[in-house]
Amino acid sequence: MRIVLVGPPGAGKGTQAAYLAKNLSIPHISTGDLFRANISQGTELGKKAKAYMDAGDLVPDEVTIGMAEDRLDAPDAAGGFLLDGFPRNEFQARALDAYLAAHGIKLDGVLDLEVPEDEVVKRIAGRRVCRNDSAHVFHVEYKQPKAPGVCDECGGELYQRSDDAEDKVRNRLDVYHRETEPIIDYYKQQNLVVTISALGPVADVTKRAMDALQDRR
Ligand code: AP5
Ligand code: ZN
Repeated sequence: MRIVLVGPPGAGKGTQAAYLAKNLSIPHISTGDLFRANISQGTELGKKAKAYMDAGDLVPDEVTIGMAEDRLDAPDAAGGFLLDGFPRNEFQARALDAYLAAHGIKLDGVLDLEVPEDEVVKRIAGRRVCRNDSAHVFHVEYKQPKAPGVCDECGGELYQRSDDAEDKVRNRLDVYHRETEPIIDYYKQQNLVVTISALGPVADVTKRAMDALQDRR
């Protein structure tokens, strides 16, 4: 399956993507994770992205689209993928459509995670991420690691993302409403959108998502 995941910052896209990708045997492709890996490796791409990410702004399209397409070209994405955090504005959505058309493929669905803003703020404030792998995500209250500050999966140190500071979160939410929300309408015109509530236990949300995607196969 070829799926795009959308939702506000902190909706649980990364958390759900890990389970959905496993259940559907497709790679989880997160542009946020790709940028963070580039930053920690000190690459040129990481240097270009860092200031935008720290401010909670979108990284410029010319940097982002090239990186996303390179990742989609990898052999493991040939049979399907779960895109998390891309596309993030209408220009990127049109670029993705052009890429898919050039490869003779189509999206099967766009999964829209709905969460009220006060819940999103709580989720982000308590999030802790592993230094070794930003796909290892915890929460001080909702998903506590067995030992405080230590990743259950690899023993790495857990830290708070710099863009999770309160003032940055406000900007990320503004950017989401202004730039990203309009792509939901863009995809509605293609009849691709399934909206689910992302409230409640993680496993319940995964079940809801799997049920919703079942109909798109
Ligand atoms: P990105 O990394 O994509 O961040 P985001 O969209 O802001 O999303 P988050 O990672 O904050 O949240 P999430 O929805 O994945 O939630 P999570 O699962 O962690 O992007 C970061 C930056 O990179 C952007 O600001 C931008 O600068 C740049 N960027 C990325 N893509 C770009 C693009 N295409 N174009 C331009 N720039 C781009 O969950 C949050 C917390 O809640 C966790 O602690 C988790 O444990 C907890 N939680 C999850 N589910 C539940 C639940 N059901 N109940 C209780 N707690 C839960
Ligand atoms: Zn880890």
